[in-house]
Amino acid sequence: MRVGVLTGGGDCPGLNAVIRGVVRKGVQEYGYDFVGFRDGWRGPLEGDTVRLDIPAVRGILPRGGTILGSSRTNPLKEENGIRRIKENLAKEEVDALVAIGGEDTLGVAGRLADEYGIKVVAVPKTIDNDLSATDYTFGFDTAVNIATEAIDRLHTTAESHMRVLVVEVMGRHTGWIAIHSGLAGGANVILIPEQRFDVDQVCAWVTSRFKASYAPIVVVAEGAMPKDGDVVLKDDSLDSFGHVRLSGVGEWLSKEIERRTGKEARTTVLGHVQRGGTPSAFDRWLATRFGLHAIEAVRDGDFGKMVALQGTDIVRVPISEATARLKTVDPKLYDEVGVFFG
Ligand code: F6P
Repeated sequence: MRVGVLTGGGDCPGLNAVIRGVVRKGVQEYGYDFVGFRDGWRGPLEGDTVRLDIPAVRGILPRGGTILGSSRTNPLKEENGIRRIKENLAKEEVDALVAIGGEDTLGVAGRLADEYGIKVVAVPKTIDNDLSATDYTFGFDTAVNIATEAIDRLHTTAESHMRVLVVEVMGRHTGWIAIHSGLAGGANVILIPEQRFDVDQVCAWVTSRFKASYAPIVVVAEGAMPKDGDVVLKDDSLDSFGHVRLSGVGEWLSKEIERRTGKEARTTVLGHVQRGGTPSAFDRWLATRFGLHAIEAVRDGDFGKMVALQGTDIVRVPISEATARLKTVDPKLYDEVGVFFG
């Protein structure tokens, strides 16, 4: 058996741990051969491969990023994409694929498996933790730790100057990083894409915090939207690579807070620092288990499935179950943390 492996979408701490788990178990227990495809779906589309064996995965467990490279290439949008993929898989004598990715990469994986008979097993990744059917994706815990450490540090500088500190964290569609890091870091306001926020309410919380002689920390997910600021923030235009660019809700909010409360405010945008560097112990644990279970699914011929964490068990679910809809923050959870606002 020869197995192809690819990593697609935004990179994420733990990708290398999955690759290592897949290859080590595949080689040592099942005697499989592997080939790596470079840059997500671009690899099989263009026949761009890289050697993938035990020496290639040695020492990569704690390394961030992905040794295979990543891209957001979507073969379903390319001319003759499916035919080219099938030809390159045949040329490389690949019997099965392990695709590691988020919503977009796995959306393609699901369609290739269900509609085109390509033998794919999927592994969910995203720092945003917004894939359905799995309790957690690896990368999320690392991102939350990085954001929490940043919030801790911002508390002391905010207090010293009695300023408002607005921290913009990742989360284009969902507020998982915001709500976890905000709660862990003791933020006074947490704003998420799932619920539009009222700037006057935010300013009231900020003011009440000052009245108690503390400097407020506002955590805002990059995809959060104000009730009354649509026109300013609604910039869904695509950049020259076809990616959606969000338009700086953190900076916008700081200015609004200054204007409406008369208090000085600063913004910190954490950005890609949340995706970089070494994975946390939890993410290494989860990513490694996903890798081991993914190659077991290949061995079982259980294609069109994604490995997922449910409770403490790793299970297999149809890929489409994970990609059909995003896993958003439950309003009850948001209400629960609201007790700390203000
Ligand atoms: O991986 C998901 C994510 O981190 C989003 O939260 C963010 O909006 C996006 O990736 C940014 O990705 P890039 O700048 O790499 O296109």
